[in-house]
Amino acid sequence: MSLQEVRPGLEGVAVAETRLSNIDGDAGELVIAGFPVEELAANATYEESVFLLFEGRLPTETELSSFQSTLAAQRTLSDPVHTVLKDAANEGVTVMDALRMGIAVATIGHDLTVSKAQAKRLVSVVPTIVAAYWRYRMGKAAVAPREDLGHTANYLYMLSGEEPDPAAVRALETYLTTVIDHGLNASTFVARAIVSTESDLFSAVTGAVGSLTGPLHGGAPGPVLDMLQQVHETGDPAAFISERLAADERLMGFGHRVYQTRDPRAAVLERATRRLTSDDDDSTFFNTVERFEDVALRELAEHKPDRALKTNVEFYTAVLLHTIGIPRVLFTATFAVSRVGGWTAHCLEQHDANKIIRPASQYVGATDRTWTPISER
Ligand code: ACO
Repeated sequence: MSLQEVRPGLEGVAVAETRLSNIDGDAGELVIAGFPVEELAANATYEESVFLLFEGRLPTETELSSFQSTLAAQRTLSDPVHTVLKDAANEGVTVMDALRMGIAVATIGHDLTVSKAQAKRLVSVVPTIVAAYWRYRMGKAAVAPREDLGHTANYLYMLSGEEPDPAAVRALETYLTTVIDHGLNASTFVARAIVSTESDLFSAVTGAVGSLTGPLHGGAPGPVLDMLQQVHETGDPAAFISERLAADERLMGFGHRVYQTRDPRAAVLERATRRLTSDDDDSTFFNTVERFEDVALRELAEHKPDRALKTNVEFYTAVLLHTIGIPRVLFTATFAVSRVGGWTAHCLEQHDANKIIRPASQYVGATDRTWTPISER
């Protein structure tokens, strides 16, 4: 077989056609099913965004109401899922590990076909798994979902057990709609690759959860918050940043495979945070955030003049989720609460026009060996 051109990290390789989202990395634009992300984030509920991805168009009022009811009616977890989550909490596993376990057990009693019905079920149960596990980890009882609340409000309610603040709901809704889909990012690629073997939707989403967990993907916002809190205490972003870069460490929340510009989602989340912080005490933290970003962009440009290392979505994800009051350990899982809509939509798309995803590799190992009997080695 002839040598193949190796594209490490599949950089610039297109392996699927999609109608779900399009990124222009040079212009810094993201379009989700035809809508600029800014427009979707400003107007859509999470449920409307999921409908848009599944159906390729906005729902009518009646369709949206029926879609919301279908999602709300499926939020409850079966007893085996609660048992696993309680055991996991006793072991103190991470929230993402618990989510992976919970999704796997949530298959009991359900058919596993790649279908819209199963996709809706997954969208419904992911927030419940995250919230129930979080409650168990805190030594508390899980809070049963409420059908009268929207998807976003219900997630906040299940975390705290209290009626959620409308401003926090709106801010979180902005987050959930902003990050719902983003081309063939690592976790979406994993989900599509799994479904491409004609495997099931729950396996695909479980695999995607594993991929999202890593710090180069959805695991970045926790470390971003750590950095910002440390700098907020010292008051000296420049010292912190130059120390990190001198040690050849990466600044979390900066750089992106596709964007050569500031990630447009960062701007959406920055505006949402600003709306929440305008007249409360967190504004001083927000000042640190802004100063950090300015210095980081300057230092990164000097550090890697040949790369456009700009602010990515995870930087303001950390800031917004922290401002809403979501605990740091839930950041990546909250990303999954949104992205499960994109993962399942991609799986449906892959399933509808399937070809197994099976790239090639270039062999660089030994050749022309002859066998040496074990007694002579
Ligand atoms: N800080 C410092 N240096 C960086 C950063 C950063 N944040 N990002 C990239 N670089 C440097 C790399 O060290 C590398 O230098 P080298 O050529 O001397 O080895 C060069 O820039 C290119 O980096 P790659 O990893 O090859 O770029 P790639 O496009 O593959 O990676 C990625 C993109 C993973 C996002 C990277 O920029 C990164 O690690 N950022 C920090 C983690 C982060 O914020 N992740 C969240 C991404 S958004 C999301 O997944 C939703």
